[in-house]
Amino acid sequence: MIKLNYKNADALVIGEENGLHLEAEFNEYKDKIVHIIADLNKRKDKNGQWLQWMNLGYNEETLWYVKEYAAMVKGRFENILVLGIGGSALGGLAVTEALLKPYWNLLSEEQRNGMPRIFFLDNIDPDTINGLLDILDLEKTLVNVITKSGSTAETMSQFMIVKDRLEKALGDNYRYNVVATTDKKTGILRQIAEQEGYKTFVVPDDVGGRFSVFSAVGLLPFALVGLDIDEMTNGIKDMDLALKNTDIHNNIAAQNALIHYLMDTKKGKNISVMMPYSSRLKYVSDWYAQLWAESLGKNKDKDGNDVHIGQTPVKALGATDQHSQIQLYNEGPNNKVINFIRVENFDTTLEIPNIFEYTGIGYLGGKTINQLINAEADATRVALADYNRPTVTITLEKVDGYNVAQLLYMLEVQTAIAGELYNIDTFNQPGVEQAKNYTYALMGRKGYEESAQILQSKMTAAV
Ligand code: PA5
Repeated sequence: MIKLNYKNADALVIGEENGLHLEAEFNEYKDKIVHIIADLNKRKDKNGQWLQWMNLGYNEETLWYVKEYAAMVKGRFENILVLGIGGSALGGLAVTEALLKPYWNLLSEEQRNGMPRIFFLDNIDPDTINGLLDILDLEKTLVNVITKSGSTAETMSQFMIVKDRLEKALGDNYRYNVVATTDKKTGILRQIAEQEGYKTFVVPDDVGGRFSVFSAVGLLPFALVGLDIDEMTNGIKDMDLALKNTDIHNNIAAQNALIHYLMDTKKGKNISVMMPYSSRLKYVSDWYAQLWAESLGKNKDKDGNDVHIGQTPVKALGATDQHSQIQLYNEGPNNKVINFIRVENFDTTLEIPNIFEYTGIGYLGGKTINQLINAEADATRVALADYNRPTVTITLEKVDGYNVAQLLYMLEVQTAIAGELYNIDTFNQPGVEQAKNYTYALMGRKGYEESAQILQSKMTAAV
C-alpha cells in the first residue's frame, strides 16, 4: 500500500506559524471525517451524486468488454491515437507515461512485444495535429475518440480532421479504425457512432471527466497497449477498502485532505505543489492539477455563500525542478503545501561508474542514480523544513499498475473529502462555461448570435 508521511507539516517540525498540530486537529475533525466518509460511501450508488467513480474498481463488465475488444484488434494496428481533452486525456497520459517502458514510441515492435505505439492529441495546435497526422500511417492507426459530452469543440474538431483523412485513405472501411468512448445515450458523437457503425465504449453516468481514468476512458487505451488492467483494478479495490476506514488516523486520503484544507484556511497556504521524484510520474502532476483545480476552485459554497476558494495546483518534477523552482519554495512566500512523491524501488538499478577522482564529483562513483534521486528528495524535504515550509511525502513501493492506480484513486478520494470540508460542489465546473460560450459565438455556432455581438463589443472595448 502507498504511504503518507505528514511529519513535516506539523508545528513540532516547522513551527507554530506555519505548521499544524496534527494530532490535535485529527482529533478535532475526527467526527466530521467519520461523517464525510460514511456519507460519500452511502451516496456513491445514488443517481446524480457524481460519485460513480468510486465503483469503477468493481466494474467487471467494462473490464471484460475492454479486454475482449483489445484481444480482438491485437496485432492489427501499429498506432493508437487518442483524441480527447481535460479529463478525457490526462488520466490516460499519466498512466501510460508511468507504466509503459520509457520512450515507448521509439521502441521497435519487438521491444514493444508487438503492442502498438500510443499518441495523445489533447490540444488544438494546428502544427502538432498536422505534424502527427503526417507521420502516422493512418491505415495502421486505431483512433480512440473520447468525449463524454460528445461535442467538445477541441476533440470534435480533431476528430473531423482525422475522420476526413481516414476516409480518404480507407474509404468506407475507415470505420473499423475508429472506436468512440462517450455517453451511452446522449451527445453528437453517440449519434455519429451509431450512424457510421463505430465500435463504442461508455463513459458511465455520474462520472465526471476528471474522475474517469478507470472507466473505459482510460482502461481501453491501457488494454490496447498491453497494460495489465486487472493489476490496476486490484490496486483500486485495495485502496478503496483502506479508504472506507472512517477513522482519520487510518485513512491517508482523509489525512491529506484535512492537511491541505487546514493549511489553506488556517495558514494561508493557498498553493498545492505536486512534485514526484520520478520522471515516469511526471504527468500525474498534470492530472492532479486538473483534479484539484477544477474540483475545488469554486465561488459559492453549498449554502450559496460567496467563498472563492480553492488552492492553486502547481506541477513540479524532482529532481529537475530543484534547479528551477526550489529557490522560490525555500525563500519566497511561504504559501505552499508541497506534495513529494517518492519511489522506493525503481525497475532499474543504475550504477554510476567510478571513473573520476575529482573531489567535486568523485563521491558519486560507485553509488547509484537510485540513491541520488532519493537522497535529493530527502535533502530537499529537510531543507524545506529548515525554512519552515510544509511538505507531505507520498511513498510508492514501485511504479507499477497496482501502486499507480492506488495513488490516483487515493488522490480522487482526497479531493472528494476536501470538497466536503470546504462545503462546495466538487463535481461541477460552471466556471469553464463562459469562455466555452464565447468560443462558440466566435466560431459562429447557431444560437450564439447575441453572445457574438456582446463579445465583439467587449473585445473592441478591451483593445
Ligand atoms: O473533468 C472534466 O469534466 C473536464 O475536464 C472534461 O473532461 C473536459 O472538458 C472534456 O469534456 P468531454 O469529455 O465532454 O469532451
